[in-house]
Amino acid sequence: MKDYVATIVKNEKIADNVYSVTFSTEEEVPVRAGQFGNISVGGTHLLRRPIAICKKEGKEVTFCYQLKGEGTHKLREMKAGSVLNVLMPLGNGFYVEKTEKKVALVGGGVGVFPLISVLREYGNEKEISAYIGYRNKGAVCGVEEFEKANKFVAVTDDGSYGEKMNAVQAFEKDLQAGNRPDVVLACGPTPMLRALKALVERENLTCYVSLEERMGCGIGACLVCVCDTTNGKKARVCKDGPVFNANDVSL
Ligand SMILES: Cc1cc2nc3c(=O)[nH]c(=O)nc-3n(C[C@H](O)[C@H](O)[C@H](O)COP(=O)(O)OP(=O)(O)OC[C@H]3O[C@@H](n4cnc5c(N)ncnc54)[C@H](O)[C@@H]3O)c2cc1C
Ligand code: FES
Repeated sequence: MKDYVATIVKNEKIADNVYSVTFSTEEEVPVRAGQFGNISVGGTHLLRRPIAICKKEGKEVTFCYQLKGEGTHKLREMKAGSVLNVLMPLGNGFYVEKTEKKVALVGGGVGVFPLISVLREYGNEKEISAYIGYRNKGAVCGVEEFEKANKFVAVTDDGSYGEKMNAVQAFEKDLQAGNRPDVVLACGPTPMLRALKALVERENLTCYVSLEERMGCGIGACLVCVCDTTNGKKARVCKDGPVFNANDVSL
């Protein structure tokens, strides 16, 4: 992990309220799928913004971000050539065991972006099915990436793109049709992860979830990001996660 001086190469809209920013760095960043960066948006915004690393190509790293509050709006205004500090790669990331051949990706909202990094890292060696939920047609993004999976099911909350259901329902439907994965990797809003956790427990499936918590340092020092574990202890999402075995965390 290092605080990279990163120059914006492009910063463009990819869906309603969603932007993609690509940085070039002075040296290649050693990234594993599911890791994230803590981006300094400069000025009076002292706290950095944690965003998943979506793609890495040579010395270029791409993050996709939804406009939310001050920090992400400030990031949107930055043009090619602007220089920011990005602390990365952070967190443990997703790891797929050699014995796990069939992988299901279940994602919703901004949780779709770290799953793109999984597809890029494991797409050639694993059989990957992606079940991705968007709010509506305008929110759909990353299709050109997910189409590289062995199977891609896109659904929306309002049925304006794909079937009207959420990502967990899409996954469950395929599971009932006999498409059973060796491991499930997921990222998305907490209610989605909670529903998925209940499903994988019923089905006795191994599942890893990437969690989102408010963060300060991003490196395990400030304890802003702690979450509850099922053994009654606390874990730091930035350092012990953001990826956890679904059995180990309370959702
Ligand atoms: C590991 C990780 C990966 C993430 N990956 C992505 C991603 O790929 N794309 C994306 O759009 N968003 C992602 N998020 C959420 C993103 O960090 C917040 O949306 C963003 O920090 C909001 O900043 P803001 O200044 O615009 O909003 P504000 O609400 O003004 O932020 C105020 C403070 O709260 C924090 N905060 C607000 N919402 C969140 C949140 N959901 N999670 C964590 N901190 C939050 C901000 O960092 C900031 O410190 C990720 C969060 C985590 C923890
Ligand atoms: S953000 Fe500081 S310990 Fe996790």
